[in-house]
Amino acid sequence: MHREEIAKEADLAQVNELVAEYSQQKWALIPLLQEIQNECGYIPPQSIPIIAIALGLFPSQVQGVISFYTQLYTQPRGRKVVRVCRGTACHVRGGKTILKLVKQHLDLEEGETSPDLEYTLETVACIGVCALAPNIVVAEHVHGHMNPKKVEQLFKSQEVGG
Ligand code: FES
Repeated sequence: MHREEIAKEADLAQVNELVAEYSQQKWALIPLLQEIQNECGYIPPQSIPIIAIALGLFPSQVQGVISFYTQLYTQPRGRKVVRVCRGTACHVRGGKTILKLVKQHLDLEEGETSPDLEYTLETVACIGVCALAPNIVVAEHVHGHMNPKKVEQLFKSQEVGG
């Protein structure tokens, strides 16, 4: 069996266990979705009908809630999420170049995840530490005053962001 199929089956086994705990409790949709995402790293799309049946909802209602909350994902994400700031302070201090270099190093475009599920690349409007611009965040760790050399060092190492 293909590795991806095995992973999907493992994800659905976890989903089934969690769903059983919340059966017929419509109020529990959001906590259940959060638990599934915590366990699997995302909400497998195949789990939507399973969740809907268990809670007595329509699949479209489950999908609607997932679409509404930007922090819920139906695609696998990398173990390390890289967020490059494209806010004004970072932009004027070279953020555009930093984003270009990060894309090159990771071989990813915005919104993409590497095939080995190591990295997901995103951009954000401002991460709130403008004084350190330009900034990037790797696995929740802020790296300020970024420059081309720092980008290279950061992604050359497999210990990025701890
Ligand atoms: S604009 Fe980048 S941290 Fe605020």
